[in-house]
Amino acid sequence: MSIHTPRIEKKVTLSTIAKMKGVEPITMVTAYDALFAQLFDGEVEMILVGDSLNMSFYGKADTLSATMDQMIYHTQAVCNGAKHACIVFDMPFGSYLTPQQALENAARVYRETCADAVKVEGGKEKVAVVKALSQNGIAVVAHIGLMPQHVRSEGGYKVRGKDEADIEALVEDALALEEAGAVIVLVEGVKAEAAKRITEAVKVPTIGIGAGSETDGQVLVWSDMFGFFEAFTPKFVKQYCNGAKEVRKGLEQYVSEVKSRAFPDEKHSY
Ligand code: KIV
Repeated sequence: MSIHTPRIEKKVTLSTIAKMKGVEPITMVTAYDALFAQLFDGEVEMILVGDSLNMSFYGKADTLSATMDQMIYHTQAVCNGAKHACIVFDMPFGSYLTPQQALENAARVYRETCADAVKVEGGKEKVAVVKALSQNGIAVVAHIGLMPQHVRSEGGYKVRGKDEADIEALVEDALALEEAGAVIVLVEGVKAEAAKRITEAVKVPTIGIGAGSETDGQVLVWSDMFGFFEAFTPKFVKQYCNGAKEVRKGLEQYVSEVKSRAFPDEKHSY
C-alpha cells in the first residue's frame, strides 16, 4: 500500500489546464511506462508521452524513427499508471504530413489510448493539420521553436528567437496555431524573451522547455531531470537527482552481496 499522499486528487482536464494560465504554473514531465507514470501521477498536472523515448528509452540518435505503433504502446502503458494527469501523445515524425493522415492517426490515438491531446511539431505550415484535428474533436498541443523532428533538415538543434525578426516569426506561428485551434503552445529551445512574447501574445497556455521562466508551464524529459540519461545534459536541464549514480550504487552492492552470499539472508528467504 502506498503511503504517499498525492498533491492532485482529481483528473486534470484540458479545461483545468486552460484556466491555469496566468494563475499557477503548469508542471509537465515525460513518461513512457506505467511504473514512472504512476510515480509522477498526482504530482504533475500533465504527462507527455514524448517521442524523446526513441532516444532515452530506445537508445537511438534522434526521435525520427519513432512509430505510431511504438507511441501507442507506450501511451497505453502510461495510461495504465496515470489516472489523474492530463496526458499528451506526441505524434511521431511522418505521422501528420497531411491533414487527412494526421486525422486518421490522431483518431487512432483517441480510440486506442486515454490521451487527452496530441502534440504536433511545426509553425504556420501546420495550420491545416491543426485545424483538421481540432475541428474533428481532437485537442492539439502545437510545438514550436526548436523542433527535434527537424534535426536532420536543419543540421542540428538550433536555439530560436535570437533576433527580433525570429521572435516575430515565432509569435506569428503561435498566433496562427492558436487561431487554428491549438489548446496549448509548447515552446522549445528559444531565448527567454521570445518565450515571454509568445506567452503574452496567445490566450492559450504556453509550456516551455529550454525557454526561460516566463511561460505558463514547464516540461522536462524525466530521464534528463533525474540524471538517468548520461550521454549529454543540455544547458536547460536541471538534474533533480542523480538517478544513474544511485542505481549503479545499488547494483554494485547487490552484485557484491550475491558474490559474497550475503544476499539473500534469512530475512529475505522463505
Ligand atoms: O519528445 C519529447 O519529450 C518532447 C519534449 C522535449 C517537449 O517533445
